[in-house]
Amino acid sequence: MTNKYMYFVANWKMFGVLNSLNSLKKVVKFLESFQKKKLVKIIYCPPTTLVHQMSKNLVKTKIKVGAQNCDENENYGAYTGSINSRMLKDAGANYVIIGHSENRQKGETNILINKKIKSALNSGLKVIFCIGETSQEKRKKMTLKILNKQMNLGLKKIKDKSNILVAYEPVWSIGTGVIPKSDDLFNTINFVKSKIKKIKVLYGGSVNSKNIHQLNSIKNIDGFLIGGASQDPNKFIDIIKKTYI
Ligand code: PGA
Repeated sequence: MTNKYMYFVANWKMFGVLNSLNSLKKVVKFLESFQKKKLVKIIYCPPTTLVHQMSKNLVKTKIKVGAQNCDENENYGAYTGSINSRMLKDAGANYVIIGHSENRQKGETNILINKKIKSALNSGLKVIFCIGETSQEKRKKMTLKILNKQMNLGLKKIKDKSNILVAYEPVWSIGTGVIPKSDDLFNTINFVKSKIKKIKVLYGGSVNSKNIHQLNSIKNIDGFLIGGASQDPNKFIDIIKKTYI
C-alpha cells in the first residue's frame, strides 16, 4: 500500500493495431472513478503507428502518451524508415522510451542513446531512460558498474535532468516472470538515486498483479514500466488498484 505519486507506464512493444485502442476506454473509466486518482500517473507507449490516434482519443483525460524509441537526428533528413522526436511530439507524444534493452540488444550503444535523449529533450519530450544489467553481468556482480556506465554515458552533458525518468529494468527479468529480491532492488534504486539527484526511478521487468504487492513494498520505487501485463486493461487496472490497497 502506498500513498505516493506513482507512474504506471504501459509499454505495448510491437503489439497493437487501431482496434486495440478500444481497450483504453476501460482504463479511462477506471481512472475517473478511482479514489486515489490524484496519485496516479499513467503513460501509454503504443507502437508509433498508434501514437497520433491514441493521443487524440485521450486528449480529455489525464493519461499521457509516449513513443517507444526515436531517431537520434533532431533535424529532418534523408533517413529512410526513421522517425525523429519532433515528429513524435507533433503526433501527440509527451514521452519517449529510450535505451530499452530490446533495442540495446539490437546494437543501440550508450553513445547513440545519449544522442537520442538529447534530441528528445530538445524537442520537448520527456524521456523514460531504461538501464539494466544482463544475467551474465549480474552473475559476475557487475550490476552497479554497468548501471553506472549506462548512466554516465547515456546522460553525458545533459545538465537538466528534470524531464528524465529512469526505468531500471534488469534484462533477465523482462518477460521471464522473475523479479529481483526486494533488498537488491531497494539497494539498486538507491544507487541510481545517489548518482542522479532528485531523479524518479521506475522498476520494469515482469511486473504483474501477483507480484505488485512485493514490489510496491520497496519504498524508493516511484512507479513501474509494464510490458506484457499492460496489453490487457484488466491486468493493468489490477496492478494500479493493488498498488494503493
Ligand atoms: P515485461 O516487459 O513487463 O513484459 O517484463 C517490461 C519491459 O520490457 O518494459
